[in-house]
Amino acid sequence: MPRVAIVTGGGTGIGAAAARLLAANGLGVVVVGRRREPLDGVCAELGHAAVAVAADLGEPAAPGFVVEQALAAFGRVDVVVNNAAVIRNGPLDSFTRDEFDRHYAVNVAGPFFLVAAALPSLRASEDAAVVNVSSSVGSMVKPGSMLYGSSKAALEYLTRAWAYELAEDGIRVNCIAPGPVDTPIHATYSDDLEATHADLARRIPLQRMGNVDDLAAWVWFLVAPESRWTTGNVIHVDGGQVLGLPASAGG
Ligand SMILES: NC(=O)c1ccc[n+]([C@@H]2O[C@H](COP(=O)([O-])OP(=O)(O)OC[C@H]3O[C@@H](n4cnc5c(N)ncnc54)[C@H](OP(=O)(O)O)[C@@H]3O)[C@@H](O)[C@H]2O)c1
Repeated sequence: MPRVAIVTGGGTGIGAAAARLLAANGLGVVVVGRRREPLDGVCAELGHAAVAVAADLGEPAAPGFVVEQALAAFGRVDVVVNNAAVIRNGPLDSFTRDEFDRHYAVNVAGPFFLVAAALPSLRASEDAAVVNVSSSVGSMVKPGSMLYGSSKAALEYLTRAWAYELAEDGIRVNCIAPGPVDTPIHATYSDDLEATHADLARRIPLQRMGNVDDLAAWVWFLVAPESRWTTGNVIHVDGGQVLGLPASAGG
């Protein structure tokens, strides 16, 4: 029976591209997000290989519900891709307590309790993998990035902690840290997308923003048998962003 992956944020952007590639490689896929419509769109493309679960991963009951639904649909969970996240940038004194809690609820507690809820199934799998999706700002400070970036730094720490703790169960845990990728997420904080994209691309040593397939390829690789001796890594898939500004832009 094929392996089954839960992909959070699987209705759009990087998550949808990852869901498509996992399904193309024979996995059953459970796509999770708050909005039904984009999830149904991905499932319509993938047919019997995919099911949609609408859930808000910032809510405490969501992780258990998602795993329950995955088991009801496919009877197993072998892979968890923690990709859903929220972002708002701003200075220290601009954030409300609710915004702080929401970032940590969705970006940290969601992945934490989803993996915990999936553990019995992951332990039963002969080839289990967790892939967390962080960000280049999990390891580099950018203006206004403190709340989102610190939540991603926490996810990177969890990657190493889970990799260590779960190694004896044969569960591999890795993380990709994307640089700027052209997805709907930028519209959630920018009023001028064109200017935001131009500014982001200007700062990338490889001179362009990423596209979703640049990232999906790494999600698949970290689930694929070829990465079977790799665990606890945070892999920067970012056009060189963490190295600094392009030399031509002043380094
Ligand atoms: N694009 C970039 O430049 C970039 C750079 C670095 C890192 N990343 C990371 O890449 C990942 C994917 O983002 P993306 O760029 O592909 O943007 P995206 O298309 O906006 O994806 C975010 C997804 O998360 C889901 N989501 C948000 N809050 C949720 C919640 N409370 N419960 C369940 N699902 C929720 C959204 O669906 P609903 O709105 O329907 O819930 C959406 O499908 C994120 O972890 C992001 O931090 C992106």
